[in-house]
Amino acid sequence: MSDLLARHRAVMPNWLSLYYNEPIEIVGGKGNRVVDASGKSYLDFFAGILTNMIGYDVAEVREAVERQLATGVVHTSTVYLLRGQVELAEKIARLSGIENAKVFFTNSGTEANETALLLATYARRSDQVLAMRQSYHGRSFGAISVTSNRSWKNSSLSPLNVHFLHGADRHLARFRGMSDADYIAACVEDLRHVLATSVGGDVAALIAEPIQGVGGFTMAPDGLFAAYKEVLDAEGILFISDEVQTGWGRTGSAFFGIANHGVTPDMMTFAKGLGNGFAVGGVVARGDLMDGLHAVGLATFGGNPISMAAANATLDYVLDHDLQANAARTGTLIIDGLREAAPRLPIVGDIRGKGLMFAVELVDPSTGEPSPALAARFMEETKKAGLLAGKGGLYGNVLRMAPPLTLTMDEAAEGLGIIVNALEVINAEVVSS
Ligand SMILES: Cc1ncc(COP(=O)(O)O)c(C=O)c1O
Repeated sequence: MSDLLARHRAVMPNWLSLYYNEPIEIVGGKGNRVVDASGKSYLDFFAGILTNMIGYDVAEVREAVERQLATGVVHTSTVYLLRGQVELAEKIARLSGIENAKVFFTNSGTEANETALLLATYARRSDQVLAMRQSYHGRSFGAISVTSNRSWKNSSLSPLNVHFLHGADRHLARFRGMSDADYIAACVEDLRHVLATSVGGDVAALIAEPIQGVGGFTMAPDGLFAAYKEVLDAEGILFISDEVQTGWGRTGSAFFGIANHGVTPDMMTFAKGLGNGFAVGGVVARGDLMDGLHAVGLATFGGNPISMAAANATLDYVLDHDLQANAARTGTLIIDGLREAAPRLPIVGDIRGKGLMFAVELVDPSTGEPSPALAARFMEETKKAGLLAGKGGLYGNVLRMAPPLTLTMDEAAEGLGIIVNALEVINAEVVSS
């Protein structure tokens, strides 16, 4: 065991899990590649869990942060005017498409979701919330309560009364083989049934990820949330889209993931990629909902001048370089390539994704059951070949990948080659065993 790993094990929580049999320390990065402490280089297809959204060592972001540092001001607090916050809020409000939108900045996705849930429960005078099965929304009590994945749920203590919906679980036997339209109809019926049987009085909101991140990039068919929204609107139930993983053009076909469903939600939460590694999260909400709270509030570090400099530079970069179109282009190359390879690889149970957010689900070919062991094997094989991937899914058998939106077509082809090759090697091992 390396010295650093031994020290990590001694002082860090044992539930803070590390990837790889021999965990790596990343000590450098440029473009879409990183280097570990041994000097080995990797094409980064996980980007610090979708957070290094435009890659490493980006001059525009570095210079913006350095300009702010040079003023001598790292923090002032929200009791003074913060130009960076106002500028970023104006951009996000405009991009959101939400009516009279207002923005509140936090330090993380968890805090962003807490804020959205507070706004919704306050506006609706209700503690009842709907969420999706297999979801992940963060690690505070409110965020855990709308999380639906036992591996990530440390407590059932809840400030909210939560009911979970079908909609991202087509793998269940009862839904398998259904057309999109039939599955959507079944899920809308489930929503109506939950509203008829499980709630008392008004429901505050539905919170949902357009593509479930931790859930293994499982997703509802396009159109489900529009169908849900008809039912929700009839009762005045608000809709919160958790865009922590799906925002800023990552899905290629839309700037925010929920737009793939033709829906403008009442609120969206964001974090991860917006600061390209600097800590920034937030909520963009209808102005009346944001302004509805009666008490004052603030987040001390939320929207601090450094993170705002980084986030403004990152968002400008995404827009100036039309990285949404790049995500569509490079993502299509990879997803099409994976779909082409899948039929000759019995270990592959499913390929799914949108833009630069794609996943490979691994199964035991003899039983069709999820295989976390093969997923672990894939992680080691791709590490050896110089590519960083992520793992997830309800059963730990999903390889999820989300490279920086700056990925070039050459890098997309290179990464696809490494992934397919790793799958072929593992498939051959399984078939011959
Ligand atoms: C969809 C989603 N929402 C919320 C969160 C929580 O964000 P954070 O870890 O910044 O608190 C995450 C983190 O992975 C996420 O994927």
